Amino acid sequence: MTFPSKVKIVEVGPRDGLQNEKMIIPTSIKIELINQLSKTGLSQIEVTSFVSPHWVPQLADHSEVYQGIIKEKNVIYSVLVPNKQGFDNALAAGVKEIAVFTTPSEKFSEKNMNCSVTESLENINHVITAAMANNIPIRGYLSCVLGCPYAGDIKPSAVVVLADQLIQMGCYEISLGDTIGVGTPKQTKLLLQTISQKLPIEKIAVHFHDTYGQALANIYVALEQGVSVIDSAIAGLGGCPYAKGASGNVATEDVLYMLNGLNIATGIDLKKLIQIDKFITDYLGKNTHSKVALAESKAY
Ligand code: HMG
Ligand code: MG
Repeated sequence: MTFPSKVKIVEVGPRDGLQNEKMIIPTSIKIELINQLSKTGLSQIEVTSFVSPHWVPQLADHSEVYQGIIKEKNVIYSVLVPNKQGFDNALAAGVKEIAVFTTPSEKFSEKNMNCSVTESLENINHVITAAMANNIPIRGYLSCVLGCPYAGDIKPSAVVVLADQLIQMGCYEISLGDTIGVGTPKQTKLLLQTISQKLPIEKIAVHFHDTYGQALANIYVALEQGVSVIDSAIAGLGGCPYAKGASGNVATEDVLYMLNGLNIATGIDLKKLIQIDKFITDYLGKNTHSKVALAESKAY
C-alpha cells in the first residue's frame, strides 16, 4: 500500500458550494472567488453549472460567470451539465470541459433530475456525443454512492456497473460522490476495492461531503487505495439542494493540510486558500467549515 506521490485537487466550491447557498450571490463575487482560486496553484476548478435556472436559481448566471473569469493557462475550468440544452448553452458560452452526473439511486435521480436513471443515461449520451464532436473532455459524477437520503444503502456493485458504463460512454474519469456524507472508511475501502476490480484506479476520483465528519478519514483510505484525484470546496461550502441532509463538502484547506503532512505534492498554496476562505465566508456572513482556516484565524 503506497500513497500517490502527487494528487490533483478539483475545487468544486464555486459550483457545489454556491449552488447550495440560500442567497443569490452577485456574479461579480463569484468571478472574484474563481479568479482568486485560479492563483493558488489549483489545476482544476468547477466554476458553475448549466442546469435549469428553475431548479437552481443560484447558478442562473452561469454564462456570465464563465465568460467573466480570467482564464489562467494551466487551469481547467469545468462546468456541470445535466442535458443537451445545458450542453448547448455551455458550448455557446465557450466552455472547454464539462462534467455529467447520474446516480445508482432511482429515487435520487427522480428528485435531482426529474427522470429515471435510464433516462439520465440517455441524456448523458446526447451530451457526450455532442461534447466529443466538439473535442470537449467529459468528467462523470456518480452521486449517493455510499448512501441515499431516499433509498438508504447503495450496493457497491451498482456503483461499479454505472461507473463502467460512463467510462465506456466516454468519460475520462468518474468522481464518486458521497452526496450526504454518510460513508465511513470501511465502506469507502470496500467500494474502492470493488471498483478497482473493474476499472483502473487512475480513472477514479472521490467527492466527499462531510456531514458526519468522515470525509478526511475516507480520503485517507482512498489515498491508500491509490486514488489521486480529490474533489473539495473552499471553506467546506456545499451541498445538494435536492439531497435532504446534504451538508458541506470537505474543505480544500483541510485536505491540503493533510496532503502536505503526508508529503503528497499538489502545487497548491495553503496560505492563499485560507485568505480566500475568509473572503468568501465574510461575504456569506457565515463561519468557515474548514478546521485549518479556523485554527489559523485564531492563531493570528
Ligand atoms: P425538468 O424540469 O424535467 O426539465 O428538469 P424539462 O426538460 O421538462 O424542461 C423544463 C424547463 O426547464 C423548460 O423551460 C426547459 O427549457 C428548462 P420552460 O419551457 O419551462 O421555460 N430547462 C433548462 N433550462 C436551462 N438549462 C438547462 C435546462 N434543462 C431544461 N440545462 C433538469 C430536468 C435535469 C434540467 C433539472 O432537473 C435540473 O436542472 N436538475 C439539476 C439539479 C441540480 O443541479 N442538482 C445539483 C447538482 S448534482 C450534485 O450536486 C451532486 C454532485 O456534487 C456530486 C455529489 O455530491 O454526489 C455533482
Ligand atoms: Mg457534491
